[in-house]
Amino acid sequence: MTITPKKIAVLLGGWSAEREVSLTGGALIVEALKSLGHQVTAIDVQRDLVGLLQSILQHPMGKPDVIFNALHGRGGEDGCIQGVLEFLGIPYTHSGVLCSAMCMDKPTAKKIVSAYGVRCPEGKVMTRDEILKNGFPFEAPFVVKPTNEGSSVGVHIVRKGENFDVAREGWVYGHDVLVERYIPGRELTVGLIGGKAMMVTEIKFTSDFYDYTVKYTAGHATHDCPAHIPLAVEKEAMRMAEVAYAALGCSGVARIDLRFDESRPEAESLYFLEMNNQPGFTPLSLVPEQAAAQGMSYAQLCQWIIEHPHQPD
Ligand SMILES: Nc1ncnc2c1ncn2[C@@H]1O[C@H](COP(=O)(O)OP(=O)(O)O)[C@@H](O)[C@H]1O
Ligand SMILES: [Mg+2]
Repeated sequence: MTITPKKIAVLLGGWSAEREVSLTGGALIVEALKSLGHQVTAIDVQRDLVGLLQSILQHPMGKPDVIFNALHGRGGEDGCIQGVLEFLGIPYTHSGVLCSAMCMDKPTAKKIVSAYGVRCPEGKVMTRDEILKNGFPFEAPFVVKPTNEGSSVGVHIVRKGENFDVAREGWVYGHDVLVERYIPGRELTVGLIGGKAMMVTEIKFTSDFYDYTVKYTAGHATHDCPAHIPLAVEKEAMRMAEVAYAALGCSGVARIDLRFDESRPEAESLYFLEMNNQPGFTPLSLVPEQAAAQGMSYAQLCQWIIEHPHQPD
């Protein structure tokens, strides 16, 4: 592979609940890009717009050719930082403003993909006050989650007989709460590169659900990559991933999370949970693992990503 060296700024850290995840993945991305011969600077993004602009535009290496956005969560994954980069006119990795905003807001992403025939768990957005006044709309088990977080932050599965009180639990994820029917079964994920589904991974864990600890602590989950599932289900998962990617207008790499309810007929067994427009890049992350299973190293994946940036309008 002949590589033309580029000037690259990697945005990492940020101020969301997923700061640590971004710092871990971002550091690996910086090393990988350097190993390919690029000129790389890491920028720990704080809530200081003037400082951010100075770091990007006044760096001794000069204006970057491309920005690698390694942020996760609010501010970095929801269209905000993408808007700043549009303003600067610098190509940046992953999806653009509108797509990022839609993916980060789970109810919006579900509405869009549902319109394209992608099955989603039934859900309802309620305010905390509505829940306190009227109770939850579903019989347990159901899932309570923030409309716009990631890494399972704030996700709670309410089991039969359990009494979940949004006020007492100290809900800190904003006014709106997404309440969804619980989909029993298995946990699948599909990585996408340039709109093409890579493969299906099954994530297995012994804890209650795929929570933050399971996601980021080695030894808490195993990945079957590719998943041992019926061929028809595998094909359908990949089809749903590609339809969702196109419907939401994603670019670069992305990943969808699915539930697989084996008790249902195969053709109706999959449910879309969310589109991750800035999927993780830590040593335990799923997209780099799928790429590796296809023979693409971590560094080659990073190179592909910077060669296919989102071009500002
Ligand atoms: N409706 C649901 N039914 C069953 N499990 C769910 C449901 N929603 C979320 N979960 C569990 O919680 C995890 C995190 O939820 P997800 O919607 O993917 O949000 P996040 O952005 O935090 O990853 C999922 O991977 C799954 O294990
Ligand atoms: Mg998820």
